Amino acid sequence: MTSLSTVLLVFVPLVVFYISNAVAIGTLLDGACTDTSNCTTVPSSECSTTKKTCQCLSTHYKHNSTTCAPKIGYNGACLATSQCKEVNTTCQTKCICIASHFRDSSSCEPLITPSKSCGAKGNSSCVDNAYCNHTSTGFCVCGVNFHASSTSCNSAVTMAVVEISTLILCFMVAYLEVLK
Ligand SMILES: *[C@@H]1O[C@H](CO)[C@@H](O)[C@H](O)[C@H]1NC(C)=O
Ligand SMILES: *[C@@H]1O[C@H](CO)[C@@H](O)[C@H](O)[C@H]1NC(C)=O
Ligand SMILES: *[C@@H]1O[C@H](CO)[C@@H](O)[C@H](O)[C@H]1NC(C)=O
Repeated sequence: MTSLSTVLLVFVPLVVFYISNAVAIGTLLDGACTDTSNCTTVPSSECSTTKKTCQCLSTHYKHNSTTCAPKIGYNGACLATSQCKEVNTTCQTKCICIASHFRDSSSCEPLITPSKSCGAKGNSSCVDNAYCNHTSTGFCVCGVNFHASSTSCNSAVTMAVVEISTLILCFMVAYLEVLK
């Protein structure tokens, strides 16, 4: 009778393992598919028409090879940008606006450039080195010692470096002309 218990001990787990995997194989995330009907093993996955593999729906991210988790909302804890739900957000331990954007009422919008209206949106809505000059009907103005271009506020030092580089370039061009 030892042979029967040996058979049971060895084969039953093997058969269970085989069946559970055979059902799943080919339908796990990143597995080949031709149609979303192939991707039923992992809930909230679909057959990507471009990759021809099972991928999480756009509303979800890949948690592991068998799980698609719902994407994370604003300020939610995250591990990767691909987990963040909203457009123009990035994962910095939490899903927040990318550096070029600020948080408006319920979305991330591009930072406001000099002389454009900011009003109630406050100082953090203006581009770097600019602030909102009034709390209700203001517009973004550059801070002291910063000069406005159409898209940014630059320090006098930055402007000087640009000017000096141009000057040096002019001298080099002139010098090369003399050598000719
Ligand atoms: C996907 O499902 C279709 C229809 O059931 C089947 O013909 C096809 O072989 C499956 N493709 C893969 C890669 O499993
Ligand atoms: C995301 O950022 C882009 C580029 O700045 C902008 O065109 C788009 O409107 C933004 N989308 C939303 C929903 O804020
Ligand atoms: C915005 O910035 C200006 C200039 O630095 C400052 O005087 C003002 O108090 C700031 N307002 C807020 C709400 O932080």
